[in-house]
Amino acid sequence: MTGASERRTDLGLSPAARALALRTEIEAHNYAYHVLDAPTIPDAEYDRLFRELQALESLHPELQTADSPTQRVGAAPRSDLPKVRHAMPMLSLSNGFEDAEVVNFDRRVSEGLLATRPVEYAVELKFDGLALSLRYEHGVLVQAATRGDGETGEEVTPNVRTIAVVPLRLQTEHPPALLEVRGEALMFHADFAALNRRQRERGLDEFVNPRNAAAGSLRQLDPAITARRPLRFFCYGLGAFDGSGSERALPGTHAELLDWFACLGLPVCAERAVVEGAQGLLGFFKTIAARRAELPYDIDGVVYKVNELAAQERLGFVSRAPRFALAHKFPAEEAETVLADIEVQVGRTGAVTPVARLVPVFVGGVTVTNASLHNEEEIRRKDIRIHDTVVVRRAGDVIPQIARVVPGKRPANAREFVMPTRCPVCDSEIVRLPGEAIARCTGGLFCSAQRKQALLHFVQRRALDIEGLGEKLTDQLVDLGLVETPADLFGLQAADLAKLDRMGEKSAANLVAAIRTARQTTLERFIFALGIRHVGEATAKDLARHFGSLDALMAASDADLLQVNDIGPVVAPSIRHFFDAPHNREVIQKIRAAGVTWAEGRVERPVLLPGVAGKTFVLTGTLPTLTRDEARARIEAAGGKVAGSVSRKTDYVVAGEEAGSKLVKAQELGVPVIDEGALLALCPAQPS
Ligand code: IVH
Repeated sequence: MTGASERRTDLGLSPAARALALRTEIEAHNYAYHVLDAPTIPDAEYDRLFRELQALESLHPELQTADSPTQRVGAAPRSDLPKVRHAMPMLSLSNGFEDAEVVNFDRRVSEGLLATRPVEYAVELKFDGLALSLRYEHGVLVQAATRGDGETGEEVTPNVRTIAVVPLRLQTEHPPALLEVRGEALMFHADFAALNRRQRERGLDEFVNPRNAAAGSLRQLDPAITARRPLRFFCYGLGAFDGSGSERALPGTHAELLDWFACLGLPVCAERAVVEGAQGLLGFFKTIAARRAELPYDIDGVVYKVNELAAQERLGFVSRAPRFALAHKFPAEEAETVLADIEVQVGRTGAVTPVARLVPVFVGGVTVTNASLHNEEEIRRKDIRIHDTVVVRRAGDVIPQIARVVPGKRPANAREFVMPTRCPVCDSEIVRLPGEAIARCTGGLFCSAQRKQALLHFVQRRALDIEGLGEKLTDQLVDLGLVETPADLFGLQAADLAKLDRMGEKSAANLVAAIRTARQTTLERFIFALGIRHVGEATAKDLARHFGSLDALMAASDADLLQVNDIGPVVAPSIRHFFDAPHNREVIQKIRAAGVTWAEGRVERPVLLPGVAGKTFVLTGTLPTLTRDEARARIEAAGGKVAGSVSRKTDYVVAGEEAGSKLVKAQELGVPVIDEGALLALCPAQPS
């Protein structure tokens, strides 16, 4: 790959000038990454620049300056969150990419420890999230901080308290006086996709990747925002520690330390092992690399740590990284290929999106032939031209992207992409409104591409869930004029269907039966199925709960709509506009006449409260003022759950007079026990 570094080396800069250029460039990337939460280059490229600077400085020590990025761990903390000085610095890990670097690491460790047998390592995943330090005093979470520059981080305690998997109190009756847990906050792929869907529906910017979504969610001044973001956390190490008060001494190995964390109710990833020597390390790397795509979250490599804690201490640190650990990182999943053409696709809402047709290329385990190009602006910004050689990147299971063009390989016949002015499907005009990035076909339901997409949306699993109506069949139904709008589906006869390609009598009868069954649905599915712009599943659910009936929703004014949770000035008019269109009202009327029904009724939406949302409570004994039902209603209204029995998964036991065996069990398991007063403080009465 041709990184900026190589190009500049080609320019023949002196080592001093090159070091200066690298320092400036790395600092700019640091700022974009840590402060703006908007990275400008892939990690692998950043690492390459960083390593080039490190190599240059070790070759020419006189070039190393005190403010060189190699001399610090991360970026300066953001100024708007309170600062915290870490009791123990949060350090960095040395990186390696090649097997030889792993072999060298093991050799250095072995020599450093004067080992006579293969060294034992605790091996784990390198989570691609945001480092956090959680401070528990006498078992209670009192502070959470980001890494910042390693010495000083940002205080994010109220935000971290909203992460459901982070215990507010450790599960032990004898907690240490002080336990600082280090780990990584991250977002799972499914949660990230749902969050971006919500952002999109609400007309907000989408996040680039789960790591930035996690960082952006945590570094909020308002914890209520963090509470709505589905964050997770995995512990991987220890910060400051004072064992007084605890019954047990600190474990002897890193693996046992993590086991102990898990016993205390702290989240620890199960994907870890203890191995011996370089062969053991490389074996773990291989196993995880093969399983990477299956993991529900992003990792960017694995981490090797000398298992014995006393041995870690003997090895100590070099510069800002421990000698006892190494991050073995995955290479970026990138490959070069030729952009054969750029075509456009028409979506359900008429959005006309350019799609890159590529000469097939193998990237990160799959053959890629198409890549998303988003919109015209993106093509201009990256200066992508048809016939260019491009670098294709796959991150996890995300749709492949064109990372950049290889300018040196641009052929003479390379040409710019021009957005067509007429829809390739229905020949209607394509327009791009001022201020919008997306061009749209103005054909509406006249455009068969839009009709097909609207039908596919209507029948999808998360909408009316009509099994057996795939793309091929929908194409035929629309092209033959059998179906114009979703309402027509309900009039289809088995005999009509049996004539279609790939349709026997049996499958035609099955499809008719599936369409009949789908008539019994729910209001939220139906609202989602309508395909109103900006109304995804989450908004459909909010609307169904708020209005309780389709008629009430159809009659709602902009002002009524703005009362609904998370509906803003983009979504409200879009809903209004949809229901104002006579054509849409007619289709809805026909669908209802065909017997599509659902239960109606308003549902109060829980107002998620940090500390309660996602937590499990068990009630026992008689509370002084609240009945069981009232206590349950409060907990559920704040997004918590009430369970019948106590287990390790219980977050709180609420005990009143004459509490029985549940209280005993809670004490045995070290589950925090609270009284009614504490419950009322956690979930005060909410306005109805
Ligand atoms: S240990 C002294 N273990 O990688 C060593 N770090 O450069 C401290 N990271 O931002 C780190 N997974 O947040 C460690 N299993 C793991 C990790 C891990 C991800 C991150 C960490 C830090 C960076 C270290």
